[in-house]
Amino acid sequence: MCGIYGIINDKNNQAAQNVLEGLKKLEYRGYDSWGVSVISRDQIKIDKHIGKIGEAMTNLPSGLIALGHTRWATHGGVTDLNAHPHLDCTKKIAVIHNGIVENYQEIKEELIKKGHQFVSETDTEVIAHLIEEKAKTKTINEAVFETFKILRGSNAIAVLDYESQTIIACRNGSPLVVGLGQGQYFLASDVPAFLKETNTVYFLNDGEAVVLSKSGVKLFDIDSEKEKILTLQTLDWKLEDAEKNGYPHFLLKEIYEQLKTIPKTTSINEKEINKLTEKIKGGYKIILTGCGTASYCALATKYFFATQGVESQAISSYEFMPFSKFIDKKTLVFAISQSGETADTLIAVKEAKKRGAEIVAVINARGSTLERLADTVLSVGAGPEIAVVSTKAFTSQLSTLYLLSTAVADKFEEGKNKINKLGTVLTNLLNPVLINRLIDTAKNLMNEEHMYLIGKHLNYPATLEFALKIKETSYIHAEPFAAGELKHGVITLIQKGTPCFVLASQDEVKDEVLSSASEIKARGGLIIGVAPFESNEFDVLIKTPDLGSLTIFANIIVGQLLGYYLGVGRGADPDKPRNLAKSVTVK
Ligand code: F6R
Repeated sequence: MCGIYGIINDKNNQAAQNVLEGLKKLEYRGYDSWGVSVISRDQIKIDKHIGKIGEAMTNLPSGLIALGHTRWATHGGVTDLNAHPHLDCTKKIAVIHNGIVENYQEIKEELIKKGHQFVSETDTEVIAHLIEEKAKTKTINEAVFETFKILRGSNAIAVLDYESQTIIACRNGSPLVVGLGQGQYFLASDVPAFLKETNTVYFLNDGEAVVLSKSGVKLFDIDSEKEKILTLQTLDWKLEDAEKNGYPHFLLKEIYEQLKTIPKTTSINEKEINKLTEKIKGGYKIILTGCGTASYCALATKYFFATQGVESQAISSYEFMPFSKFIDKKTLVFAISQSGETADTLIAVKEAKKRGAEIVAVINARGSTLERLADTVLSVGAGPEIAVVSTKAFTSQLSTLYLLSTAVADKFEEGKNKINKLGTVLTNLLNPVLINRLIDTAKNLMNEEHMYLIGKHLNYPATLEFALKIKETSYIHAEPFAAGELKHGVITLIQKGTPCFVLASQDEVKDEVLSSASEIKARGGLIIGVAPFESNEFDVLIKTPDLGSLTIFANIIVGQLLGYYLGVGRGADPDKPRNLAKSVTVK
């Protein structure tokens, strides 16, 4: 949520322009407004606007040091004035912020009494004025650290200070990473911002601060205000991971990348899988948790485990608390997350840890808070996911957990073979005939306001994920149901021509699902089958390969593509759906 990017010692003396370019790579984190500040001669200059960065340019002057932000609004409407950065009264301190300052009202009242003038409605502006106040008697580093300690809530801040010509940043709950290039130093909320300059990085921990100056980067502990040793790591990310590579959108690129990222999960760390398998066989309870797409991965995994005779629970992280009392030391909590920074997931994990559970993080991004909280990390290795809508991270998490379920049933090698073959089968699936059929289906459904989806057993979580992709990318109301739910009320929604997707597999519940389809058809519904077989019930068939319990992967990829084509057709931005941000770091 919110993107932060700063540069010190820009090699072209065009720091503002380069910060703007880097922010375009972070726009998935928030796109209500953007702003850049630059140190130019005797002052800080700022350019900020509402709306997406898109092709934006800035007329800001040249300079070596700049700091910018893309905003996902929390406090204060989406206006130019509320866009970050925010200045203090002297206009020598510019602040950008990711998070929510829960006690900003009381801080603001105190500062107003001391004569500070506020120009925005944001919680962020209090940070700039509080630093100004403290810097009257302290060094700028002390002033920033002490201000940060006063802020309540989960926050990351970055401060551009004119006097010291530095960028100072503090982290508590929202991600920050520094990059060390050749004489240039970078601060960002995610690596893609500076990946074209360097892959030598340090991910800040909660309670840490960095000071970037012309002579380098220093790491501090915020509480003690003492300097710490900065231990760098080199990431194996390639530049193309953060580029569209000829695709019109990151979303489409990432959907196609699944043909490789799914089979790649078979190179999982087997030691970790064996350790977890032992524990599960030894009677550990299993709880699977996550938010949104990750919660559907949790639910699908529950079906995978059940197929192998293993009991588990799937609980959305935002509904975790009432059930946390059942957690004990013999519980494995699988926290599933692309970003590893989702506030609701982290809250659930912290509660589970307090109750003695072992935490297994099933994550994609590296260096996250969740990774640090976990006892075991299952890194799914899908690479940077830039589109806001999750695709490849989801299928890699699902595939990783499927592999674990096969290991528990002593069928790990068989599981790996199936997942490896899946890559080839899915590559064949995405042939021009299928793509044209999806484009035609999207054209026919473009003006619909409502559509419904049904599925049973493993295809039930598939309908949840399929529907979410349609909602997120096209803004069409798509509502998923368990096929069995239909007769219990839902069927009233069906009218003549109502589109209804029927997700089915060649399995023991196929006939039941087809009966539900025929009940919808009898009421005039338009039935679009997503299945590996023909049926009289289907008005349209999007044929998927028969992959047994893995058919869910094909059905979901169909949903991702259909959502994409519907979104593009309706003029939405598939990479940045309205109102959303990639990592939801607020409750
Ligand atoms: C859907 C989507 C969201 C995320 C959810 C959790 O396409 O992206 O539903 O899945 O916000 O995010 P992570 O996985 O980062 O914890």
